[in-house]
Amino acid sequence: MDLKQARERINELTQKINHHDYLYYVRAQPEISDYDYDMLMKELFSLEKEFPELKAPSSPTQRVGGQVTKRFPSVKHKYPMLSLDNTYSKEELADFDKRVSKGLQEDYEYICELKFDGVAIGITYENGELSRAVTRGDGVQGDEVTTNVKTIRSLPLKVENNQLPLQFEVRGEIYMPHRSFLNLNEEKQKKEESPFANPRNAAAGSLKLQDSALVAKRNLDCFVFGLLSEEIFFASHWESLEAAKKWGFKVNSMTRKCKNMDEVFAFIESCDKKRKELPFDIDGVVIKVNSYRQQEKLGYTSKFPRWAISYKFKAERAATYLEDVVYQVGRTGAVTPVAVLKPVHVAGSTVKRASLYNADKMNELNLHYQDLVFVEKGGDIIPKIVGVDEDQRKEGAKKVGFARECPECGSGLERKEGEAVHYCTNTDHCPPQLQGKIEHFISRRAMNIESLGEGRIRLLIDNHRIENIADLYDLKFDDLIGLEKTFTDPLTQKTRKVSFREKTVQNILEAIENSRKVPFERVLYAIGIRHLGETTAKKLAAHFENIDNLANASFEDLIAVNDVGEKMAQSILDYFENPKNREILERLKKAGLNFAKEKTEEESKSQELQDKTLVVSGVFTKYSRDEIKGLIESHGGKVTGSVSSNTDYLVAGENMGPKKRKQAEDLNVTIISEEDLEKMLAG
Ligand code: IVH
Repeated sequence: MDLKQARERINELTQKINHHDYLYYVRAQPEISDYDYDMLMKELFSLEKEFPELKAPSSPTQRVGGQVTKRFPSVKHKYPMLSLDNTYSKEELADFDKRVSKGLQEDYEYICELKFDGVAIGITYENGELSRAVTRGDGVQGDEVTTNVKTIRSLPLKVENNQLPLQFEVRGEIYMPHRSFLNLNEEKQKKEESPFANPRNAAAGSLKLQDSALVAKRNLDCFVFGLLSEEIFFASHWESLEAAKKWGFKVNSMTRKCKNMDEVFAFIESCDKKRKELPFDIDGVVIKVNSYRQQEKLGYTSKFPRWAISYKFKAERAATYLEDVVYQVGRTGAVTPVAVLKPVHVAGSTVKRASLYNADKMNELNLHYQDLVFVEKGGDIIPKIVGVDEDQRKEGAKKVGFARECPECGSGLERKEGEAVHYCTNTDHCPPQLQGKIEHFISRRAMNIESLGEGRIRLLIDNHRIENIADLYDLKFDDLIGLEKTFTDPLTQKTRKVSFREKTVQNILEAIENSRKVPFERVLYAIGIRHLGETTAKKLAAHFENIDNLANASFEDLIAVNDVGEKMAQSILDYFENPKNREILERLKKAGLNFAKEKTEEESKSQELQDKTLVVSGVFTKYSRDEIKGLIESHGGKVTGSVSSNTDYLVAGENMGPKKRKQAEDLNVTIISEEDLEKMLAG
C-alpha cells in the first residue's frame, strides 16, 4: 500500500469507527458486532504503525490511551465556569421563578435538565477537532486533562458539520456509570486497594490518572449540557442542545422544555421517581431560562447566573432501631462492621442493614445497642447511618465496641498503623481469605480453572473439601458431586443456589487437569505471593528460571531484578520463609505443576527465518498484518518497514502499493505470498 492508498483507507476506517462509536456510545444502538469493530480498529492501528506520518491527533486509536501525563497544567478558562445557586425547596424554586418573571416582564420558557453528579468539564473544539479539555478548578482556571478526556468514547474527537463554528466549547459533566463503578471497586478490593466512596470520586480520580491507558479502562462517560462560542448563532439553549446532539454529542434524553412552574414541578417529580433506575448518579435537576437574549437580560450575581438554578433532591431518611452490629470478612481479611436494623422503609425499599465502614466511622457515631438511628438512602447504592438520636438512648445501653476476634474463624484482629481497617490475622485458614486466595489461584490469568466460581469455592471450603490451593489437585469426583447450598448476601439479602452436578464436576476436574500445563510464570503469579502482579511474575520467572532459584534468592538478588522494589522483595522472602507455603509448593510440584521456565512456544518454534529480513505489505486473508509480523519474529526473522538491498523477502498481501513491488523487483527481492510464508515456516 502506498502513502495515498494508506491515507484513503485510514480516512475510511476513521469515519467508520467514529460512526460506530457514535451508534454504540451515544445512541446505544450498535450496528456491528464487537468482533467486526475490533477488526476495523486493528487495521487502523497497524496502518498507523506502518505510516506514522498519517496518524492524526483525532484518530480513534487515541481512545485506547497510552500517553502519560506527568503533570496536569493549570490553564485559564476562555469563558469562566460558573456554578449554580442551589435550592432544596419548592418554595424557593417558586421565588426564583418570581424573580425571573419580574426581571423579564414577558413570556419565557425553561429548559429542565438532570443535574449530573460527576466532574464538570469544558471541552474546546477547533476546526472541528477536540483540542483541549479543562476541569472546572476554581471556575477561572482548571486542570488540562485533554489526553484522558480523549479516551471517553461518547465524545467525538472530530466533529464534521457544515454549520460548525471555527471554535466552540462544550460544557458537560464527566461521570462514571454505576456498573463501571461497581466493577472498579470490586477490582480495587481484590488488589487490596481502598475502594472509591462514590462514582463522583471515582470519576474525579480517574481523570487525574497519569496513564491514559488506565483511564480508557475506567469507562467514563460525558453528558453535554452547554455550548459556547464567539460565533454563536443559536437563539436559545434548546437550539444549542439540538445542535450539539446533531454534531454527535451525548445530550441526555430526559431534557425537557417547560412552559410554566407546574410543568417544572412535574418534571422534578418524574425525575425523582426515575432516579433510582438511572444507571448513573444525579443529585437534582437544573432549571435554565431558554432564550439567550433573556439570559443576558437577567444577567449574573457575583457568583451565579440569575437565569438558572438547581433543585437538589433530599436524600430520603428514616429513623429506626439498631438491633445489632455484625462483621463481614472480605477476601483480603478486612473486617467491616454492618449494622443490623429494625426493618424500615426508605426511598422505595426496605432497609435491614447498613454499612458502618470501619471502627473510626463507628466511633464517630458513638453507637449504643438499641439506639434510635437515622438511615439515609441518597444516590448511593448502599444505605448509611448518618446519625443517632442520643436523647432517646435507653438507660444502661451498652456502647458498641469493635469486634475483638474474626467472626469467621475466631482469630485475633490487627489494625496496621495509619490504616482505618482491621484485618483478621489468620491469613491461611480464615474461610473468606482462603476463598480470596483460591479465587486468585483459579482466575483466568493465573491457573484458568473455569467452572469453579465464587459460590462453588465457598461450598468446598465450608464442606472442608479444600483448605489450601494444593488440595485442589487431590479432589476426586466423589468429593464434589451432590454438594449444594443456598447463599444469602448479608447486605442485599439476595439469595443464590449453588450446586455440583455431574457435568460441572467433570468440567472442573478437566480444568484442574489442564492447569498442570500452565507455564511457570503464571503458576508463580497464581500461588499468591503478596503484592506480586502478573508482570513482575513474568520478570522473576525469566530471571530465576525456576522456583528453587527464586526461593534461595537473597534480598539483594531480588531487588536486582528490574521492577522489584524493597516491599516486593521482602514479601517474596516472607513467602518462602513460611514452612506452610513450602509444604504447599512441594505438594504442587508433586501434582505436576510447572515450576521451571520451559522454552516458550516462540523459542521452541523453528528458526526457519534466522538472519532473514522481511518486509510485510498489504492486507492478508488469513492473518492480520501484526500477526504475520509476529509469526516471522517467532521464527527468528526480522521485520523492517521498507524494502532495501538487505531485504530477503517481501511478503505481499492484497492492495500492496505498486511502488513497493517495483522496489522489490529492482532489488531482486523475492516476493512471496501469505501461503508461501506458511509453507516456508512449516519447513
Ligand atoms: S449548567 C452557568 N447543567 O453542576 C451554568 N450544570 O453548580 C453552569 N451540573 O459545575 C452549569 N448537571 O458541573 C449545568 N445539567 C446541568 C448540570 C450541571 C450537573 C454541574 C456542573 C456545575 C455544577 C453547577
